[in-house]
Amino acid sequence: MTSPALLVTGSSGLIGSEVAAHFDARGWHVHGVDNNQRAVFFGPAGDTRWNQARLASSLRSFTHHELDIRDREGVLRLVAEIRPAAIVHTAAQPSHDRAAAIPFDDFDTNAVGTLNLLEAARRARPESPFVHMSTNKVYGDAPNEIPLVELATRWDYADVTFAHGIPESFRIDASKHSLFGASKVAADVMVQEYGRYFGLPTCCLRGGCLTGPAHSGVELHGFLSYLVKCNLEGRRYTVFGYQGKQVRDNIHAADVAAFIERFIAAPRPAAVYNIGGGKANSCSILEAFEMAASRTGKPMDFVYSDQAREGDHICYYSDLRRIEADYPGWSPEITLAETFDQIVEAWERRQLS
Ligand SMILES: NC(=O)c1ccc[n+]([C@@H]2O[C@H](COP(=O)([O-])OP(=O)(O)OC[C@H]3O[C@@H](n4cnc5c(N)ncnc54)[C@H](O)[C@@H]3O)[C@@H](O)[C@H]2O)c1
Repeated sequence: MTSPALLVTGSSGLIGSEVAAHFDARGWHVHGVDNNQRAVFFGPAGDTRWNQARLASSLRSFTHHELDIRDREGVLRLVAEIRPAAIVHTAAQPSHDRAAAIPFDDFDTNAVGTLNLLEAARRARPESPFVHMSTNKVYGDAPNEIPLVELATRWDYADVTFAHGIPESFRIDASKHSLFGASKVAADVMVQEYGRYFGLPTCCLRGGCLTGPAHSGVELHGFLSYLVKCNLEGRRYTVFGYQGKQVRDNIHAADVAAFIERFIAAPRPAAVYNIGGGKANSCSILEAFEMAASRTGKPMDFVYSDQAREGDHICYYSDLRRIEADYPGWSPEITLAETFDQIVEAWERRQLS
């Protein structure tokens, strides 16, 4: 029997590489699409070739395709050739802050690249599940309108309506998104539309902070990965606003890959889920400094800037009740503490190699 084919875009990145390894281990043939655009977006520190090489040498059945998802003809051709049994789309310009300097690259990659893949999927094999990595930035800065309480090391919601976090029903317009958030809204709505209008089994996963040892963390993207790297290298970290008490929920890439497997096995059209670590795996920047320092034995060197990032969330954690109700048995399994251990260990290993 031939292996089912999975097409993963952004396969050299954090989520793409985790998904590739996850499905390879379960007998799929994985076709990865990546052109190392992360190094173009963020410079040499964002280079993902090491991760591409790791997949090529460690996976059982992996084919790399050096393709830009903005290349419409190339995407249509590749998807028609492979006719994948499922598509997991993780390639993106992923940075909130970077987008303002490269608006055309950002929109062409995030919005138009997603449309290229959706249309290619519809033409080649519309019954195949299509999972898109969206983001919590589709909510713009509207979560900042929720009354907050200031605690010793973090902000939290003062309104009990949000005791479980931000639900998928939260509004996505009439707020500041950053150009990145706006290009991701375009993609998110288009993915839903291919589900509702054409009946494709599509899914948008609106991620909180997605993390893990395979991230090529840089200042503008990959919060925990970059923070740990700074700590280990004794590099000064800049905290932008909110007293360093801004809260993020963090989920390990392996838990995201495990969910994607569950969705592909039992897809629904036009599904939308928030996916993150939830409140249990949330931390503020100040708390993250402590967690890093307690592992490495090195104090965090940081400076504080009053200038908060444009459209940044003050407090965000995902309400996981919809995703857990629709896919019983799935929950984030890797704790924030374990994730920290793995990130520290991975940077130490990469620094030695
Ligand atoms: N990491 C997070 O905290 C986070 C949070 C919310 C949502 N997301 C979303 O999850 C997805 C994956 O994020 P990640 O952290 O794995 O990002 P990443 O940057 O680690 O991986 C993305 C990969 O896509 C590739 N890529 C970018 N543009 C491309 C193009 N035009 N053609 C081909 N390949 C291209 C890059 O080279 C990179 O290897 C993105 O859609 C991102 O917006 C990430």
